[in-house]
Amino acid sequence: MAPPAPSAGARLLLLRRLLSTATEAVAEAAAPTAAAAAPAAAAAKAGEKGGSRPLYRRLSALGGAGEGSVSRVLNKWVREGGTPRVDDLVKHVKELRKYKRHAHALELMDWMVNARGMHMSHTNHAIRLDLIYKVRGLEAAENYFASLPDPAKNHRTYGALLNCYCSAKMEEKAIDIYRKMDELGICSSRLPINNLMSLYMKLGRHGKVDSLFKEMKVKNVKPDNLTCCILMTSYASSNKIDAIEELLKEMVEKDVALGWSAYSTLASIYANAGLVEKAESALKKLEGLVGVDDGKQPFDFLMSLYASVGNLSEVNRVWDVIKAKFSKVTNTSYLGMLQALYKLNDIDRMKQIYVDWESNYENYDVRLTNMMIRGHLKLGMTDEAESLWEKAKEKGAEFDSKTCELFLDHYMGKGDMNLALNWVENMVKLPKKAGKLDQDKIHKFQKYFEEHKDADGAERFCNCLRMQGCIDGKAYESLLRTYLAAGKKSSSLRQQIKDDKIEICYDIGKLLKRMGDKGR
Ligand SMILES: *[C@@H]1O[C@H](CO)[C@@H](O)[C@H](O)[C@H]1NC(C)=O
Ligand SMILES: *[C@@H]1O[C@H](CO)[C@@H](O)[C@H](O)[C@H]1NC(C)=O
Ligand SMILES: *[C@@H]1O[C@H](CO)[C@@H](O)[C@H](O)[C@H]1NC(C)=O
Repeated sequence: MAPPAPSAGARLLLLRRLLSTATEAVAEAAAPTAAAAAPAAAAAKAGEKGGSRPLYRRLSALGGAGEGSVSRVLNKWVREGGTPRVDDLVKHVKELRKYKRHAHALELMDWMVNARGMHMSHTNHAIRLDLIYKVRGLEAAENYFASLPDPAKNHRTYGALLNCYCSAKMEEKAIDIYRKMDELGICSSRLPINNLMSLYMKLGRHGKVDSLFKEMKVKNVKPDNLTCCILMTSYASSNKIDAIEELLKEMVEKDVALGWSAYSTLASIYANAGLVEKAESALKKLEGLVGVDDGKQPFDFLMSLYASVGNLSEVNRVWDVIKAKFSKVTNTSYLGMLQALYKLNDIDRMKQIYVDWESNYENYDVRLTNMMIRGHLKLGMTDEAESLWEKAKEKGAEFDSKTCELFLDHYMGKGDMNLALNWVENMVKLPKKAGKLDQDKIHKFQKYFEEHKDADGAERFCNCLRMQGCIDGKAYESLLRTYLAAGKKSSSLRQQIKDDKIEICYDIGKLLKRMGDKGR
């Protein structure tokens, strides 16, 4: 089977995925999390004194609780005899941060300083700065940095500020800080350079990425796997595949450990370039580098990438590895497998996987049913798609805007506008803004009802527009034209237009008159 042509969309997706890993990695390094140092269990144990429940468990149970909730938990815990220690609390901060509970992490740090007068180390200042940026924005982060005592303005806090500017894509400020760090002689690590490189890559300034890499060599800074990923992606966007191969050689010479994620980047670059054999050999390397602690993510990448090069047998083999390796296969993995098989047009295997999921799932996940519907519709198997949906409904499942969109687009594509209308009606019943019709679709519906003299259909469609809050004069003009075409009358339309707070303009007035409306 020929590999599917790499679409611009797929390429962008890859870039975005890589970039988010890259920036996360940079942020991580600027303000290291507990990922390596303190596994969840250890953090939960820390500070166990005080009350019956360990502090972290109480914090963790807060979920999405608002401001003040963290201080309340801490004060209560202290009253119950808990002894706050900087190291323990910072571990909790890092855990919360790891789960993206930035506001809670920041409140905990604020409490340490404001309520307990605890001293912040330079590293902790960097973490706090990063959290302030995430919770309160750039200006607050800048003010925090400005307020730091001079000794605390070191490579860590400067690095954290640089990271803020890079995330905010503020090139000039980022450069200023970077040059300042250079002047102070605290720029000799690869972190600030990686950070700036990844900014330039996001901005599409590939020449700058390259010159920073040269600067790195001049400064004798050893690149790492992230440097390599940024460069590979940058070269790939300029279609410089040869440069990537040179770079890889250079990394080997410099003894840089690349890790599985670098090979996954490399494999997707090759796959997008249609270099199947090279992609497959990168995937073999990727798989060989997966460690016991890497979880299931590398396998999800493997499935998706083998699908991109059109290798069904490898997709199935990796799926078997996942099933054998992990006691619980997640909805994400099932979804990834369905997507891979969809790419490969293997509807029968998709059915097997879906049945397997149906007999195993804990929580219904509409994305999987949508994927099956998409697979069937692609092959024109409309009845099967509808009955998939019916079966899911019997089990109490609810559709989402994606479901509606799939059927809507399918029926519109076939010109079955009445069937399509059913799905518009389903869509507008969803919670507000879940799905929206674009102008092109609206126009197609209106044109169809006018041409087919279908006043009932036009009324139903106008109802949908009203429910979406986007009924306008044009919609009424079309409705009136449809009435006229059908030779139908309505005495309530003028009032309805007024009720919708739409001005009766010259065109609408003329149409109303033609319909025999006397106009009052
Ligand atoms: C780079 O390697 C380190 C450790 O080897 C790993 O933790 C990190 O995820 C890797 N980052 C990238 C972007 O490959
Ligand atoms: C799939 O990959 C395997 C292992 O790399 C290879 O032996 C096989 O020839 C590939 N199959 C196809 C159809 O490309
Ligand atoms: C997917 O599974 C995770 C946990 O396994 C669950 O938290 C999440 O809600 C599921 N997603 C959907 C959309 O059901």
